Amino acid sequence: MEILERDWFSEQDILDLLNLRRQENIQHLFDKSLALTRELIGNKVFFRGIIEFSNRCEKNCFYCGIRRENTTISRYLLTGEEILAGALWAEENRYGSLVLQSGECTSPEFVLFLEEVIRRIKKTTSLGITLSVGEQSRETYQRFFDAGAHRYLLRIETSNPELYRRIHPRDHSFEKRLECLRTLKEIGMQVGTGVMIGLPFQTVPDLAKDILFFQREDIDMIGMGPYIIHTRTPLATHETIESWNAGKKGILDQTLKMIAVARLVLRDVNIASTTALQAIHPRGREMGLKAGANVIMPIITPGRYRESYLLYEGKPCIDDSAEVCRDCLSERIHSTGREIAWDEWGDPLHFQSRQR
Ligand code: 5AD
Ligand code: SF4
Repeated sequence: MEILERDWFSEQDILDLLNLRRQENIQHLFDKSLALTRELIGNKVFFRGIIEFSNRCEKNCFYCGIRRENTTISRYLLTGEEILAGALWAEENRYGSLVLQSGECTSPEFVLFLEEVIRRIKKTTSLGITLSVGEQSRETYQRFFDAGAHRYLLRIETSNPELYRRIHPRDHSFEKRLECLRTLKEIGMQVGTGVMIGLPFQTVPDLAKDILFFQREDIDMIGMGPYIIHTRTPLATHETIESWNAGKKGILDQTLKMIAVARLVLRDVNIASTTALQAIHPRGREMGLKAGANVIMPIITPGRYRESYLLYEGKPCIDDSAEVCRDCLSERIHSTGREIAWDEWGDPLHFQSRQR
């Protein structure tokens, strides 16, 4: 396929690649993407242990299982000790980096709590710290950065403002989300974003524009996953549940194509093979690695909280311990012929070249 030999891709090229239908052409796309991943980044996959330290959330996104109005789940916030224990475990197990994720809370108490937790982790371990705690003020982001968090994940969910409005309540703002991403970059964070794939009303041209959005915003890290319906959310109706189930295989394929095309277009960024991929297919995370992802995020959230952190249904690993996730994912990575980058922070090359 001539298009795969290019080193610059137009919007039409991206669209054409995302629209590939023939299995041999899709395989060719994945092979090309994996070869580029190995050439630029190497054969290693970076591990980031993720602690989902709170499911309290002030937001009410129409797709998410821990949205404010879902009163059927019990809410938790780990103690500083519990989070630190998770961090120490990650260090002992040579994970290199940690992700602290929660629902969105903006109270001064929460911000102070997290700031202190970051400081304690930095003092007692040599882990790199990534945060994923939603939209916050510039001052808060700066405090987190000064405390030692050097990466931040904040998905744009979709780069189409109109679609964004359809999947969020009126008081959730696309513009604010974008402003946050830009602020994080100005502060000096390594910035990750991403989208959900297979959202109701989403089109393939939307997805092509998502990739151009990542390029335009000069993003360092990408986390994309399939949209997975959660029955206790407004986006789940009789019809959408049925059509989601019917379209599931297509969503998996589209997600893998997005990973591969993102790699070809964005080149030296870190791309995660997300847990949601494994929710939609038992070997989904291996497939993500084979399509050009180079990051895996094993869950280290303590077992008893895992079933309360279900953003979507069918999330895997909720009955597992951190040890089980470590061994299971190591095995999965090795099965794809890749190695694990133990003890490395694994900063995205893209950020390093952006600094020069
Ligand atoms: N399906 C897939 N991903 C989801 N997220 C939230 N709800 C769902 C869902 N139903 C993702 C969003 C959010 C991230 C933390 O989880 O993209 O940014
Ligand atoms: Fe809260 Fe994030 Fe879920 Fe939205 S997607 S409801 S901000 S946890």
